Amino acid sequence: MPSMRVNISPMKNGQGQLSEIYLDSRAQILCPPDLIPAPGQYILAHARGSGSPLAVPVFFSDSAPNGFRAAPFLPLAWRPGTQLNLRGPLGHGFSIPPFARKVALIAFDESPARLRGLISIALKQDAEIVLVCNSAMDDIPEAVEVQPLQAMTDIYQWADYAALDVARENLNQLGKMLGVGGQARAPREAQVLVRAPMPCGALAECGVCALTIRHEWKMICKDGPVFELNSILAA
Ligand code: FES
Repeated sequence: MPSMRVNISPMKNGQGQLSEIYLDSRAQILCPPDLIPAPGQYILAHARGSGSPLAVPVFFSDSAPNGFRAAPFLPLAWRPGTQLNLRGPLGHGFSIPPFARKVALIAFDESPARLRGLISIALKQDAEIVLVCNSAMDDIPEAVEVQPLQAMTDIYQWADYAALDVARENLNQLGKMLGVGGQARAPREAQVLVRAPMPCGALAECGVCALTIRHEWKMICKDGPVFELNSILAA
């Protein structure tokens, strides 16, 4: 049975606080449970009293008591104790299909932190997991094999489910390296988190996060940020 992407959860407004910053640049966010995003989803956060007019998308990386551990990179001005106005959870997240037993997590151009939350889900369904990335992250369970990006194509072809993380401007490069749409073996299912600035989170329809898919405009902030890989690279 094909997996379904996580539907947009009921959106809430609330208060939170950054309580700790870790060596790998992730951060502990304290917030009510109904504001915690699922892997691939985000919340928009604005530091209380900040002069910046724009909110910042904050992605889930891992579970943590009284909130969650957020993926890097958060604004440098945010320090432990910074109070945050939060809105979310927003967008569509990842969903590992129940058939998946060989899971590839591929951080194409940045930290693998936004994929980290999928590890416990994949382990629960007894999947083998290979994390492909060129940057380090703390707390990777021993059961997870870590490979450099040079191994990406082989691992992608080995997997029956792949979750990827890529910046919008690198999508074409990713598609070429994976041979998407060609003869190469591909996982039964692959999803990709596309990163782009998302200042309004669909509230003002600013268009900053626009992406063209099959000649149609999509908004990464509300139609994504997680998309089916084939739907965007076969465009
Ligand atoms: S961030 Fe404004 S429309 Fe997506």
